[in-house]
Amino acid sequence: MLRTKVISFASFVGLVSATPLIYDGRAPFNYTSEDLNNSLDPYLSAVKGSNNASFYTQFLGHSHAPTPLWMPGIQEQAMTISIDNSSVFVPGGSQPQYGFRRTDLIAQKDSNHTALDAIADVGTTVFHVSIQEDSAKPLNMSHEYQIVWIEPNDGSHIFEIQLGSPFTIPTGTVPVSDARSLKVRNHALTLLFETPFTSNDWHNFAIQVDWTNRTLGVFYSTNATPLAAVTGLEDNSAAQLGVAAQGDYHFGVLKLPLVNLNDTAAQQSDVVHFGIQEGDAEALNYSGVFIESITGGVSSASGTTIAPIS
Ligand SMILES: *[C@@H]1O[C@H](CO)[C@@H](O)[C@H](O)[C@H]1NC(C)=O
Ligand SMILES: *[C@@H]1O[C@H](CO)[C@@H](O)[C@H](O)[C@H]1NC(C)=O
Ligand SMILES: *[C@@H]1O[C@H](CO)[C@@H](O)[C@H](O)[C@H]1NC(C)=O
Ligand SMILES: *[C@@H]1O[C@H](CO)[C@@H](O)[C@H](O)[C@H]1NC(C)=O
Ligand SMILES: *[C@@H]1O[C@H](CO)[C@@H](O)[C@H](O)[C@H]1NC(C)=O
Ligand SMILES: *[C@@H]1O[C@H](CO)[C@@H](O)[C@H](O)[C@H]1NC(C)=O
Ligand SMILES: *[C@@H]1O[C@H](CO)[C@@H](O)[C@H](O)[C@H]1NC(C)=O
Ligand SMILES: *[C@@H]1O[C@H](CO)[C@@H](O)[C@H](O)[C@H]1NC(C)=O
Ligand SMILES: *[C@@H]1O[C@H](CO)[C@@H](O)[C@H](O)[C@H]1NC(C)=O
Repeated sequence: MLRTKVISFASFVGLVSATPLIYDGRAPFNYTSEDLNNSLDPYLSAVKGSNNASFYTQFLGHSHAPTPLWMPGIQEQAMTISIDNSSVFVPGGSQPQYGFRRTDLIAQKDSNHTALDAIADVGTTVFHVSIQEDSAKPLNMSHEYQIVWIEPNDGSHIFEIQLGSPFTIPTGTVPVSDARSLKVRNHALTLLFETPFTSNDWHNFAIQVDWTNRTLGVFYSTNATPLAAVTGLEDNSAAQLGVAAQGDYHFGVLKLPLVNLNDTAAQQSDVVHFGIQEGDAEALNYSGVFIESITGGVSSASGTTIAPIS
């Protein structure tokens, strides 16, 4: 594991970022529910159920603190992203995704999410996100949740962060023993890192993506502890190369169904459209979402950087 020098915090107060920021999804305090309803930067809010975007996602203002990792320096409000039984996404107005319940926010800059591809999905870039439980609306760990990922046009995931029990046909014994762990998987769904989803903590992740050599590296910490590498340089050669690999950066709550054995075999494997959902209201808290280049290192805390994983 990579060991890095912990740089004195006080001497860097006021510095925001020493490494070029490509996209900043840390919501400013003037970002409102109306902005979200209208998919104003920095989020495309279209992937959701039939209610307005602000029905599913709440910006918490000063009522609940975001991850302390980027403070001082960043003025950011945390958000709660929720699903309920109405969270059936109907892409392009047809073929409702009855298998899923989902609310995703998608990184967007200059009102154009695909325009980010050419700057965020080239060379080596780092995708930051912090996740916290909402104990009033806990997830159901008998189900699989995909909560952070990059999705190219082929629908695959360059990497993903998961919670819960992986979807299987038939359903095994759920919840599985590590259901309450956050898991980082590569494009081939190989587990790279997992850590218990402890209550109350902010779980900070940074995923280093080398788009050319097709490798990943994972950094992690809780709360105000600076990020540290928790993997080596890991293979991601199942991903495509170039434009075919580029895609949207999603974060939110995507709940997979449990298989319904009354369905036909074809329906059972069509998790997008079929399966069992209880329809509960569930949520996660998010903050600290941004994408940076590694030119000046990887941001590990407010004003401090560490070496990329090599
Ligand atoms: C928030 O305030 C900043 C600085 O005044 C401004 O540039 C930005 O457009 C505002 N954002 C929203 C969503 O109103
Ligand atoms: C956003 O949508 C919600 C419904 O989910 C609605 O109550 C609210 O008035 C909308 N807000 C704005 C400012 O459009
Ligand atoms: C969403 O908000 C807009 C603006 O406030 C309102 O006109 C519309 O009825 C709302 N739609 C839903 C589904 O809540
Ligand atoms: C949840 O939504 C589905 C799909 O719209 C519907 O068939 C089902 O009856 C709903 N369940 C509950 C508990 O409302
Ligand atoms: C968004 O950006 C992409 C890539 O730069 C471009 O091809 C597309 O025309 C843009 N879309 C809009 C609506 O501006
Ligand atoms: C969680 O999901 C399982 C499997 O579908 C279900 O049996 C259980 O009732 C669910 N729990 C709640 C609280 O909905
Ligand atoms: C998550 O945010 C909600 C507000 O939507 C808050 O009530 C809850 O306490 C937060 N979770 C934690 C662990 O603080
Ligand atoms: C990428 O792969 C090439 C060829 O194997 C190697 O020389 C280079 O050091 C690698 N770059 C990184 C950043 O790992
Ligand atoms: C499967 O079919 C049986 C018999 O009709 C019914 O009792 C049961 O509720 C069904 N199960 C599900 C998950 O739909």
